[in-house]
Amino acid sequence: MCGIVGVLGNHEAAPILVEALKRLEYRGYDSAGIATVSNGTLDRRRAVGKLVNLSDLLVHNPLAGKSGIGHTRWATHGAPSVTNAHPHKAGPVAVVHNGIIENFRELRSALAEKGYHFSTETDTETVALLCQSFIDAGDAPQDAAFKTIDALDGAFALCFLFDGENDLLVAARKGSPLAIGHGKGEVFVGSDAIALAPMTDQVTYLDEGDRAVLTRTSVEIFDYSGAQVQRERRTIAMDSARIEKAGHKHFMAKEIAEQPTVIAEALNYYLSADEKSITLPDPGLDFAEFDRIIMVACGTAYYACYTAKYWFEQLARIPVEIDVASEFRYREPPVAEKTLAIFVSQSGETADTLAALRYMAGKASRIVSVVNVAESSIARESDIALPILAGVEVGVASTKAFSCQLTVLALLALEAAVQRGKMSAEDLAEQLGKLRTLPGLLTRALDLDEVLNAVSNDLSESRDVLFLGRGMMYPLALEGALKLKEISYIHAEGYASGELKHGPIALIDSHTPVIVFAPHDALFDKTVSNMQEVMARGGKVLLVSDKKGLEVASDGVWQTVQMPDVPDLFAPILYAIPAQLIAYHTAVAKGTDVDQPRNLAKSVTVE
Ligand code: G6P
Repeated sequence: MCGIVGVLGNHEAAPILVEALKRLEYRGYDSAGIATVSNGTLDRRRAVGKLVNLSDLLVHNPLAGKSGIGHTRWATHGAPSVTNAHPHKAGPVAVVHNGIIENFRELRSALAEKGYHFSTETDTETVALLCQSFIDAGDAPQDAAFKTIDALDGAFALCFLFDGENDLLVAARKGSPLAIGHGKGEVFVGSDAIALAPMTDQVTYLDEGDRAVLTRTSVEIFDYSGAQVQRERRTIAMDSARIEKAGHKHFMAKEIAEQPTVIAEALNYYLSADEKSITLPDPGLDFAEFDRIIMVACGTAYYACYTAKYWFEQLARIPVEIDVASEFRYREPPVAEKTLAIFVSQSGETADTLAALRYMAGKASRIVSVVNVAESSIARESDIALPILAGVEVGVASTKAFSCQLTVLALLALEAAVQRGKMSAEDLAEQLGKLRTLPGLLTRALDLDEVLNAVSNDLSESRDVLFLGRGMMYPLALEGALKLKEISYIHAEGYASGELKHGPIALIDSHTPVIVFAPHDALFDKTVSNMQEVMARGGKVLLVSDKKGLEVASDGVWQTVQMPDVPDLFAPILYAIPAQLIAYHTAVAKGTDVDQPRNLAKSVTVE
């Protein structure tokens, strides 16, 4: 993944590059670096770890120049170190790269044979050296960069800067997104438009295979065949204030707190004016055309698919297959006629999900994406993109995007039920009325913050935590465990509560908290029986339920959390709040880096 930026400006480049990188740090934070050209001379600064280390370095060792490139890294080839940090420099060329160069070993051997020396373990250094080799052979910088790009296999976004060239950047996109920002006598490059928000709202996205030659006054774009092309310039609605913490200690806390608002906005977007029916964006969907659904995603988005499987099957009586994208893309599943494929992704750029989508193109009857970033590759390559309208999500652990994904998928399942004749218009109106109560219920669930904080202090002492749920609460148990492990580093597992007795019950002891999500629904008694099995073996149970549930099942449990009553169907959306707040407060109690947990990145644009 990694984030890349570039600038040809009228002001000092270093502060602009650092500000832009700050907005891309969600893509990786193993190291950061910038390179500039000042008075015709290329120079760079790099530091391991977060961007703040690079900022500190620049205070003591500044870098002048109004032209530059920058990078924030999520390590793929080579450990996080200054040597492996970008920009990579070879002779007169500096390069920043997001993605993976798959044929770098072959290129490296060929360059080594020609006498070029490698000093890093990265695939990116090969790009810089290859470009240098073309310049050494007499090519002009732009031609050398183009020849280099042509020689590369894999997925990449690249930006090249050259010694002696104060007014030239070459950028390329193949598999990883890249946006060009247009200023007044200035030009910018960024892995996404968020990076460019403080500088400009005028953005051109490169298409697959595009490369661009940029000066302060011109942007020339060429497609993969070398033909010059025009790409649309868009005005991006990018309120830069929206990526501030707004008084919260962490982005994650802010994003959890935003859920009532963003879900209300998503409902406003999809509900008709009379709030009795659902309006999908053009070209819409006809569920009578489909016999089955395949849903594919990664991480938290996959658990949103898992939850939606219950909705589609129960409400619309349509079979749903779900899979994680990294498995789906390689198992080459047969795709029956009349299959609807749904891809869920916050970023819309996750490499495995995008590859799975491409596998389905031409096989599925229709391809739907459920995305937060409307301009993303996944959105653009689907037949219909359904926005989740969560707003910019910065915390690496997904929270508001998850609940917005669930909301949009619930609406889609309701629409499917009506179109397939499994639900009447009256029943739909009733369900939509219930969905409308969700923002208020979410606000009440957020009031449990202090209670959950106290519980989490105890949980933070644990080595292992189990999450249990049945029915729609099972995917939420999986998501609760994922949230906890990714930000608190406590080992956690989610299980279907009925499956516990087939193995995991061996893990139960008095030191292992078991968190049970169990609203008082049709499956409540079954879940409580499983909970009793845990308690009979000395397990300590945290029961998250509603008033009725706690009245009948609190005896002997370690702790309880009383949730507001919620319509059964939509309980997963409400119960996401305690799952998220437990992870958040446990991580804060442990003192981990909540917004940027170790080894992770928000947007995974490599396999
Ligand atoms: C990364 C993030 C997760 C996210 C997953 C899928 O692993 O850390 O929070 O759920 O990618 O991302 P996507 O953008 O496709 O939803």
